[in-house]
Amino acid sequence: MIGSMVNQLMANATIDEIKAAGLEQFYADHRKGIYPSNANGVPFTAAYIESMSDPIANLSEDMAAEQKARATYENLIDLAEDPDIIGPLLFLRQREVVHFNRFKELYDYYKKKGY
Ligand SMILES: [Fe+2]
Repeated sequence: MIGSMVNQLMANATIDEIKAAGLEQFYADHRKGIYPSNANGVPFTAAYIESMSDPIANLSEDMAAEQKARATYENLIDLAEDPDIIGPLLFLRQREVVHFNRFKELYDYYKKKGY
């Protein structure tokens, strides 16, 4: 969804608007294409996906990832001014809360089973 939002925002942007937004470096490398990376330009890699055969370790990491995603959406909401951007970000933020709660249910389930 974030990629789609960025694509829509960039689609009709002029060079002057891209410069005013501080996106010259992004434009130089990717034009208006979507390139999954963090706010510092570090690209997404499969190295971010950690897993091992321990449900408590995996679920703990999943829950932490959901909280980090929630916090990131809150940071983006703080920076956004357009209600058409804030609305979807609020939806995505709430979705992360639900994900966290579902992982927590599984965490509690495995803890009860003695893991
Ligand atoms: Fe999530």
